[in-house]
Amino acid sequence: MKIVILFSIIVACGFVENVVSDNNQFPYRTIINFGDSLSDTGNSATKEPFAANSPYGSTYFKHPAGRLSDGRLIIDFIVKAYGLPVLPAYLNLTKGQHVKQGVNFAYSGSTANNKSFFDQRGLDVPLAAYSLTTQFEWFQKLKPSLCTGKEDCATFFKNALVLVGEIGGNDINAIIPHKNLTEIREFVPHIVQEISTMISKLIEEGAVQLVVPGNFPIGCNSYVLNEVNSNKTEDYDEFGCLRNYNAAIKYFNDQLKTAIDDLRHKNTHVNITYFNYYSAARRLYETPEQYGFKGKPDTFKVCCGKGGRYNLKEFCGFGDSVICEEPSKHISWDGFHMTEAGYRAVAQGLLEGPYATPALKTPPFKIPKE
Ligand SMILES: *[C@@H]1O[C@H](CO)[C@@H](O)[C@H](O)[C@H]1NC(C)=O
Ligand SMILES: *[C@@H]1O[C@H](CO)[C@@H](O)[C@H](O)[C@H]1NC(C)=O
Ligand SMILES: *[C@@H]1O[C@H](CO)[C@@H](O)[C@H](O)[C@H]1NC(C)=O
Ligand SMILES: *[C@@H]1O[C@H](CO)[C@@H](O)[C@H](O)[C@H]1NC(C)=O
Ligand SMILES: *[C@@H]1O[C@H](CO)[C@@H](O)[C@H](O)[C@H]1NC(C)=O
Repeated sequence: MKIVILFSIIVACGFVENVVSDNNQFPYRTIINFGDSLSDTGNSATKEPFAANSPYGSTYFKHPAGRLSDGRLIIDFIVKAYGLPVLPAYLNLTKGQHVKQGVNFAYSGSTANNKSFFDQRGLDVPLAAYSLTTQFEWFQKLKPSLCTGKEDCATFFKNALVLVGEIGGNDINAIIPHKNLTEIREFVPHIVQEISTMISKLIEEGAVQLVVPGNFPIGCNSYVLNEVNSNKTEDYDEFGCLRNYNAAIKYFNDQLKTAIDDLRHKNTHVNITYFNYYSAARRLYETPEQYGFKGKPDTFKVCCGKGGRYNLKEFCGFGDSVICEEPSKHISWDGFHMTEAGYRAVAQGLLEGPYATPALKTPPFKIPKE
């Protein structure tokens, strides 16, 4: 999973509207996001310039746009559906830039646990430097630009949606090469604890509307399928996903949901929505054609890459990797990350389908088909 670190992107995208909408039919005035590459809209791109040549962003933005996909991410579809501007990346803010409508602290490769946690266990995880601990520090630094004083902050947070995650997937990625699935399970409470602590800290800061996504079914992830490359049919379910890996993620998600329930009981003035990434994504692998994706045997073939069972002999942006002809027919973009089409389908499931519990306030706009 080390290669994920290499995957990054150079700058671009991200226009920021300077006009504050005071249209009251918009249910949220602000969206604040924490997470990893699944929702990074340009933070890691400020530090990883070597991905300049990669084909990231090519479908929608037509150039690299700080996102690890060919286009928009779930978070892009969410802010758009609520009528808010593209989330500016915290590390890419310019002095005096308007942030009251939202900001993004997500950093590609980041973890829930911090660097010292991994160091103590003899694991070298450089991107843990951008863990939730760091992202929270960034938030605290920026807070005076978001609101000042008790009353102002109360109003600000009353109208703000705060997303924590997806995060924790990279904690698992970091230990997969060193640990078996039993040990990975033993690791899960540490991840959940960090997410839970982060939520508590944000509630203390004033957040009252939060979203916590679980993790995707990594047993259906093309990179994992390619790495494991098992020849044992019993390792796979009827759809071609790795049973054990999905079971480990289910275990993680269940623990996360229990932690969220605890937080709800302790903080009755706060609403916490769980995003079921697992099921919203899993249905795409189960009945791909229904969502416009390629069926068997191409369901797990990535769009950007080259060769082999999953088109992953060469990674996206390396060697003579190529981009597929119809990115919108592929769920996976580079093995790790979905295509824009994949993320769109997931976002639809979250905002217009049944995969948010409890559902968020009704978005004023539909998720665009194009
Ligand atoms: C970073 O900010 C600059 C200037 O505002 C903008 O042109 C660029 O698109 C931004 N990059 C990303 C990745 O958001
Ligand atoms: C790392 O996380 C642990 C557990 O939450 C915490 O006790 C510790 O203070 C953190 N270390 C740093 C350097 O932030
Ligand atoms: C996992 O690793 C631990 C520690 O090395 C070992 O005790 C255990 O038997 C292993 N479990 C499986 C299922 O391989
Ligand atoms: C599965 O079979 C292929 C082709 O025979 C082989 O290259 C690969 O190494 C095998 N994988 C494992 C995990 O044994
Ligand atoms: C929580 O959700 C309920 C039901 O949707 C809503 O009436 C209430 O205003 C929400 N509370 C907060 C703090 O957002």
